[in-house]
Amino acid sequence: MHMQNKLNLATGRWGRAMALLLGLAVPVITAAEQPILDANSRFHPVYSPSGMVVSQEIIASRVGAEILSLGGNAIDAAVATGFALAVTLPRAGNLAGGGFMLIYLAAEKKTIAIDYREMAPAAAHRDMFLDAAGDVDNRLARHSLQSSGVPGTVAGLLHAHDNYGVLELKQVMAPAVALARNGFAMSVDLATSLDSRYDRLTRNAATQGYFYKPDGKRYKPGEQWVQADLAATLRRIAKGGRDGFYGGQTAALIVAEMQRTGGLITRADLDNYRVVERAPVCGEFHQHQICAMPPPSSGGVHLVQMLNILEGWDLQALGHNSAAYIHRLVEVMRRAYADRSAYLGDPDYFAVPVAEITDKKYAAVLRAGIALDKAGASAKVQPGLELDPDSLLRAQPTADRESTETTHFSSWDRWGNVVSSTTTLNFGYGNGISVTGGGFLMNNEMDDFSSKPNTPNVFNLLGGSANAIQPGKRPLSSMTPTLVFDNSGVPLLATGSPGGSTIITVVLQTVLNVLTFDMRIAEASSVPRIHHQWYPDKLYYESGISPDTLTALTAMGHTINAKPRVLGATQSIQKGPNNSLLGASDPRRQGAGAVAEP
Ligand code: DON
Repeated sequence: MHMQNKLNLATGRWGRAMALLLGLAVPVITAAEQPILDANSRFHPVYSPSGMVVSQEIIASRVGAEILSLGGNAIDAAVATGFALAVTLPRAGNLAGGGFMLIYLAAEKKTIAIDYREMAPAAAHRDMFLDAAGDVDNRLARHSLQSSGVPGTVAGLLHAHDNYGVLELKQVMAPAVALARNGFAMSVDLATSLDSRYDRLTRNAATQGYFYKPDGKRYKPGEQWVQADLAATLRRIAKGGRDGFYGGQTAALIVAEMQRTGGLITRADLDNYRVVERAPVCGEFHQHQICAMPPPSSGGVHLVQMLNILEGWDLQALGHNSAAYIHRLVEVMRRAYADRSAYLGDPDYFAVPVAEITDKKYAAVLRAGIALDKAGASAKVQPGLELDPDSLLRAQPTADRESTETTHFSSWDRWGNVVSSTTTLNFGYGNGISVTGGGFLMNNEMDDFSSKPNTPNVFNLLGGSANAIQPGKRPLSSMTPTLVFDNSGVPLLATGSPGGSTIITVVLQTVLNVLTFDMRIAEASSVPRIHHQWYPDKLYYESGISPDTLTALTAMGHTINAKPRVLGATQSIQKGPNNSLLGASDPRRQGAGAVAEP
């Protein structure tokens, strides 16, 4: 009894440090055992005694929270937020992009992964972005209509709603329709973002018309912005479901746009788009279960792989963001991204060796190869499995899966259902080309394929045959919607981030901040991050990493990027004390919001 009391005192960071000093066993603690507010933190989450929605755009978060208060579950809230983001956060929220959604179904104690990633059109082919000299034509791959994959977002959101929501679709979509039809006051974040992209976005007449004033001038913060064509498209979806986008007038508008400027997507491609429900990739880390998105995302596989390697060291003893800790992170990231370049692709076309990469024995081999006192060199680190990627290519795509079909948002309801979803057009505002009459932007996700072996894409990511372009295939992604559970399967955390290639390492550090360094989610989302991705062989860092630490890392042989950069923008929910929820939007970007169910 006496010992039990002592252990109960050893909660929170200081209690754990004390317990270590006294030589007591350090108990595994969770936020659920802590007081609501952590007086030792400089960062504080939003508290909710019931449900919560967190997204990059606060109006969209409010929409989701309102849906919760109307009796919707976390899935309804996520779908409502997803459609609202297509209106209020057009640089990443979308109708004609794609994404991934992890859903924890409380009643069944089951996690599912919904893949609504774009698919390459039937007319796509391996060398479609190569010019006459055999080099990648980046304009074609990033800024043309050929850069668009067949959109998955509408099918994905509808799949989630049809199968797991409880409210009517019309009710769930009503707020998005109203926001587009009636308009909303442009935020500082949105006005600034559109201002900074003026040149790129006014190259396309339809985009200019939708995102700037009729006289070509820019909107100022606070001015009302109405999107009538987008409202009409949303109404068609609310009324007709999948047919409201992949059929009828919307499909005709998409196909007409493709035909006008050389896009590949046909009516048949739209008909053939399918959502795939996949099993999440799960791993264990110090008595916690981590579940994240499986291929065609590389996120879950490498998150689990990196945690497996890191589990072999006492990271807490090294200290958060110490040189010794950052060194280990870098070496682990280096190896994971080397593997990513060879072994990751669409699992329907390539037999991704998920079990091998996430095997703890493989992690032990990789860990043993890491020198603790000096930096490794990417040139000496190669993909680590003894497997020829070409031997994993599937002769026939596996098309027989169950099928009814970058920004992150998380939702959690009072029944314990949890959603973690990341969606994107790839670049901010995709390829900048709008569907005339439809009111929405097209994605440029085709650049996530490896257009040519050993030629980096926009995120400097390398790839080979596993991620080569093929008709119907989904480009490899880094999006990493993630759920963390305690050792009895109770969900503790939902998180995810935008940031291209940095997404996986941002999510990794968020999970470590919570599980290893006992941070509450607001602090875990705020503290400085680092990133390494094998190539370029550079350590990227955020301001706030101490210059002394950078000096120590340089002395170990690490090449530090010349300047700090901002890494990621998480939108997370953590289980709090007494069945409460703690929400946190990353402070790195303006305009986001964690909103408690009213
Ligand atoms: O799927 C991917 O990995 C990329 N298309 C994500 C792009 C992204 O995160 C851009 N946002 N910052």
